[in-house]
Amino acid sequence: MVLDALRTATVTSDPMSAEAVSAKDRSMHHAVEDSQRLVASLPPATQQAVAGWNQLISANFAGDQACAKCHEKEYEAHLRSGHSRTLTRIDESTLASKLAETRHYQDPRRDQIFEFSQNEGSLWVRDVANASGVAIPVTWLLGSGTHAQTPIAVDESTQSGVELRWSYFANRDQLGLTPDHERFDDFAAGTIECFGRPMDAADMRACLGCHSTLTPPPSLPLINSLVVANVGCERCHGPRKKHVALAHLGHAEEAKPMLRYETAEAYMDACSTCHRDESSVKPDATPNELVRFQPYGIKRSRCYLESPDKMTCSTCHDPHDTVSHNRAVSIDQCKQCHGNASSSECSHQPTGDCIDCHMPAVEWTSGIAFHDHWIRIPDEIPGETPSVDSAGNLTASDMLHSDGEE
Ligand code: HEC
Ligand code: HEC
Ligand code: HEC
Ligand code: HEC
Ligand code: HEC
Ligand code: HEC
Ligand code: HEC
Repeated sequence: MVLDALRTATVTSDPMSAEAVSAKDRSMHHAVEDSQRLVASLPPATQQAVAGWNQLISANFAGDQACAKCHEKEYEAHLRSGHSRTLTRIDESTLASKLAETRHYQDPRRDQIFEFSQNEGSLWVRDVANASGVAIPVTWLLGSGTHAQTPIAVDESTQSGVELRWSYFANRDQLGLTPDHERFDDFAAGTIECFGRPMDAADMRACLGCHSTLTPPPSLPLINSLVVANVGCERCHGPRKKHVALAHLGHAEEAKPMLRYETAEAYMDACSTCHRDESSVKPDATPNELVRFQPYGIKRSRCYLESPDKMTCSTCHDPHDTVSHNRAVSIDQCKQCHGNASSSECSHQPTGDCIDCHMPAVEWTSGIAFHDHWIRIPDEIPGETPSVDSAGNLTASDMLHSDGEE
C-alpha cells in the first residue's frame, strides 16, 4: 500500500510546523465536522443508511450512564473494568497531549524518529526522513492501559489504515514497540509500513468490533462517529432502552432480557466472540498466543469438562469488574470444588498457590503475561520450593502475594 492510500495531509511549507498541516485542510482536524463532511459527500442511498443506523442506535440503546441509578453496583464495578475504557478517541486521551509535549520518539529497532503534534484536538504523526511531507492523523487508542494502549489510524473514506508501530506501556510509563511489529523492522520508505502495520477494512472492523459495543456493518462506511465505543452494558445485555423506559414506570420485568445465560456453554459463547475459543485458533498458533484465549483454555480443562454446566467465567470472575489479583480469593475459588470429598485434592501441594502451578502466568510478548486458562497438570513445577513454616504450610506472604509480572 502506498502512502496515498491513507488519507494523509500533505505538508508543503515547513514540515515541522503544525500550522502547515492545518493550513492545507483545516476542517480535517475537527473530528465531528470531518465526519459530517464525509457523510454529506456520500451517495444518497448511503447517507440514508447512515441516518438509519443513527436512528437504530438512539431508538434502542440507552448507554451505560442510563443504568447507573438503578444498578449502582454493576455500574461502579464496570467503571473499574477495562471493558469500560477499551476504545478511546485520540482527541479524548491524555496520551495525545503528553506526546505532543514530548514531540519525538526514537524507534528502538529502526533508524527512525517519529514526530508528534496536536492540532485542534487531533494527534498527528510524521517521519520527516522516511516519508517527507506526510502527516498521519491518529484516530483511536485501543486498550484500557492495564497492559498497553495501541493507536490506530482509520481512513474514514477508504476504511483501511494502519496500526501504529508504537504503543504506550503502562508498566514502564513509556512508548515501546507495538507487540508483533518486529516483522516490520525492514520496511520500504515512502510506504505505509513506515508508520506501522497496514490494515484493510476487514482488519479495522475486527479491531474496533472487539473493543466496542457497536461497529457499523460492512454495508456502511467506517465513520468514527458511527462507532459506539467500549464494551458497554448493552454489548452483553443487548439494547436496553425499552427496559429503562419500562423500569422508570415500575415495569422492568416486562422488558425481556436480550441474553439468557442458561448453560455454561451459552454463557461462554457470549464472551468468546472477543475472548476467543477453539473456533478462533489458527493452525500455526503458538502456545504463548493461546494463553490469551481464556474460553479456549477453560473448555479444554477437565474442571469444565467433568463438572457439567457448572463452570463459567463467573465461577471465578465478576464479569462486571476488573480481575482480582488477590491469590487467597483465587485459591478459595479452586477449593469450591477441590479439597473436599466430592472432588480430588491436590496430591502434590494441596496448600500451595494453585494458580502458580496450574494456571501459570505465561509471557505473551515482552513484559506482558497472561494466565493460562487451560487448567492442567504442569509439565514442570515452576520456581524453587516456596517458603514453608515449621508445620509445612506456605507462609502468609506467599499465599497472599499479588501478581508481580503484570
Ligand atoms: C429505573 C430503574 C432501572 C434502570 C434505569 C435500569 N434497570 Fe435494569 N432492572 C431494573 C429492575 C427493577 C430489574 C429487576 C427486574 C426483574 O426482576 O425482572 C432490572 C433487571 C435488570 C437485569 C437482569 C434481568 C434482565 O431483565 O435481564 C439486567 C441485565 C438489567 N436490568 C440491565 C440494565 C441495563 C444494562 C440498564 C441500562 C441500559 C438498566 N438495566 C437500567 C431497573 C432498572
Ligand atoms: C465486545 C468484546 C468483548 C466481549 C463480548 C467480552 N469481552 Fe471481556 N474484554 C474485552 C476487551 C477488549 C478487554 C480488554 C479491556 C482492556 O482494554 O483492558 C476485556 C477484558 C476483560 C476482563 C479483564 C478486565 C479487567 O479490567 O481486569 C475480564 C475479566 C473479561 N474481559 C471478562 C469477560 C467475560 C466474562 C465476558 C463474557 C460474559 C466478556 N469479557 C465479554 C472484550 C470483550
Ligand atoms: C477477537 C477480538 C479482538 C480483536 C480482533 C482485537 N482485540 Fe484487542 N483485545 C481483545 C481482548 C479480549 C482483550 C483482553 C484480553 C487480552 O488481552 O487478550 C484485548 C486486549 C487488547 C489490548 C490490551 C489492553 C490492556 O491494557 O490490557 C490492546 C492494546 C489491544 N487489545 C489492541 C488491539 C488492536 C490494536 C487490535 C486491532 C489491530 C485489536 N486489539 C484487535 C480482543 C480483540
Ligand atoms: C462483559 C459482559 C457484561 C457487561 C459489559 C455487563 N454485564 Fe451485566 N451481566 C453479565 C453476565 C454474564 C451476567 C450474569 C451474572 C453472572 O452469571 O455472573 C450479568 C448480570 C447482570 C445483572 C443481574 C445481576 C443479578 O444479580 O442478577 C445486572 C442488573 C447487570 N448485569 C447489569 C449490568 C450493567 C448496568 C452493566 C453496565 C454498567 C453491565 N451489566 C455490563 C455480563 C455483563
Ligand atoms: C466447578 C468445579 C471446579 C472448580 C471451580 C475447579 N475445578 Fe479443577 N477440576 C474439577 C473437576 C470435576 C476435575 C476432574 C476430576 C477431578 O480431578 O476431580 C478437575 C480437575 C482438575 C485438575 C486435574 C487436571 C488434569 O488434567 O488431570 C487440576 C490440576 C485442577 N482441577 C485444578 C484446579 C484449580 C487450580 C482450580 C482453581 C483455579 C480449579 N481446579 C477449579 C472441578 C473444578
Ligand atoms: C477457575 C477459575 C477461573 C475461571 C473459570 C476463569 N478465570 Fe480468568 N483468571 C483466573 C485467575 C486465577 C486469573 C489471574 C488472577 C491474578 O492475576 O492473580 C485470571 C485472569 C483473567 C484475565 C486477566 C488476564 C490474565 O490472563 O491474567 C482475564 C481477561 C480473564 N481471566 C478472563 C476470563 C474469561 C473470559 C473466562 C471465561 C472464559 C475466565 N477468565 C474464566 C481464574 C479463572
Ligand atoms: C507446587 C506446584 C503445585 C501447587 C502449588 C498445587 N499443585 Fe495441584 N498438582 C501439582 C502437580 C505436580 C500435580 C500432579 C501430581 C501427580 O501426578 O502426582 C497436581 C495435581 C493436582 C490435581 C489432580 C489430582 C491429583 O492429585 O493428582 C488437582 C485437582 C490439583 N492438583 C489441584 C490443586 C489445587 C486446588 C491447588 C491449590 C490449593 C494445587 N493443586 C496446588 C502441582 C501443584
